Amino acid sequence: MNPTATTLARSTGFEATFGRPPESAGSAPGRVNLLGEHTDYNGGFVLPTVIPQTTRVELARSRDDRCRFYSATLDQLVSFRAGEPAPAGFARYVFGCIQVAREMRELAPLDIWIDSNVPVGAGLSSSAALLVAVLRGVRALFDLQVDDVGIALLAQRAEVEFARVRVGIMDQMAASLGTPGHMLFLDTRSLERKLLPLPPGAQVIAIHSGVPRKLAGSEYNRRREECEQAARMLGVAMLRDADDLAAAEQLPEPLNRRARHVIGENRRVIAASRGVSASEFGALMNASHASLRDDYEVSISALDELVGLLQAHPRVFGAKLTGAGFGGACVALAAAGSAAEVNSDILKAYRGKGYDGTALV
Ligand code: GLA
Repeated sequence: MNPTATTLARSTGFEATFGRPPESAGSAPGRVNLLGEHTDYNGGFVLPTVIPQTTRVELARSRDDRCRFYSATLDQLVSFRAGEPAPAGFARYVFGCIQVAREMRELAPLDIWIDSNVPVGAGLSSSAALLVAVLRGVRALFDLQVDDVGIALLAQRAEVEFARVRVGIMDQMAASLGTPGHMLFLDTRSLERKLLPLPPGAQVIAIHSGVPRKLAGSEYNRRREECEQAARMLGVAMLRDADDLAAAEQLPEPLNRRARHVIGENRRVIAASRGVSASEFGALMNASHASLRDDYEVSISALDELVGLLQAHPRVFGAKLTGAGFGGACVALAAAGSAAEVNSDILKAYRGKGYDGTALV
């Protein structure tokens, strides 16, 4: 049922930590979003693709009434009695998964080992990778009857209810259904989806700005409320249903600009999903970044500098920030085979501006 959650023949991580072999495992990738930023909680369209970095978990039923979660990345062991809430931090996400999965059937307390090379706070969806990996491992261990879309929905509930950020469904769907080398074109309202090839002759590049995301939670929730208010004033259920730019322009500041971003961004995703050339796709990404910077106001100067350098590179078709914004990574569409050259040129120029970036893909 699920190729990435299997009973392991051999494991070093769990066994070295807990002194016995795990009973199951799961893994899930991070993602970059090529187009469709801040559209998912408006019922709109998104176009993410998975990255090679993944989160992996190994797990087994606990031998007493305690849960133990070990993060190899943080070298941190969290232990608490089943029935008590997990402490804040990575354990809260894992605990959230178990709570939502528990509504499907009774689950024994678990020992879980976690490792990840998805950078945290980079806008690459490390939380969705963790949630989906844990839920895959739990599904395999307890034979939960839930498909990959169901896993994404459980992961989203875990994040909203336990981490308290009102995220949309894009990241969890990308982690659960994304396929390397393809873009996941997703209607976030109906969850209809299609895997599409990248534009011919192009590849994806991602660079971390070196600036961790700040204020992402509070500003994110505020943008979401502004969109809900704009939708109410336009008389639609969600901004996805608004297509009249002239009506959006009549809204008070800043709701007019928030609505303009969402309407334009949905149009860009639809245009890109119809199969455009790499340079047309790149132009849509550039327009997306400008809209995120000016209308949605989720960029910062480091991201603008990095995106500007990428956009000016002769082998890059287009670039934008990726994820929620406020720091983290940028994504670019570049000529196939040019990643090493582009990454090295851009990191050098970016350093010249006083920043310290890292190539991710
Ligand atoms: C975060 C959220 C997503 C989405 C993006 C912005 O990654 O988790 O649901 O809203 O921001 O596009």
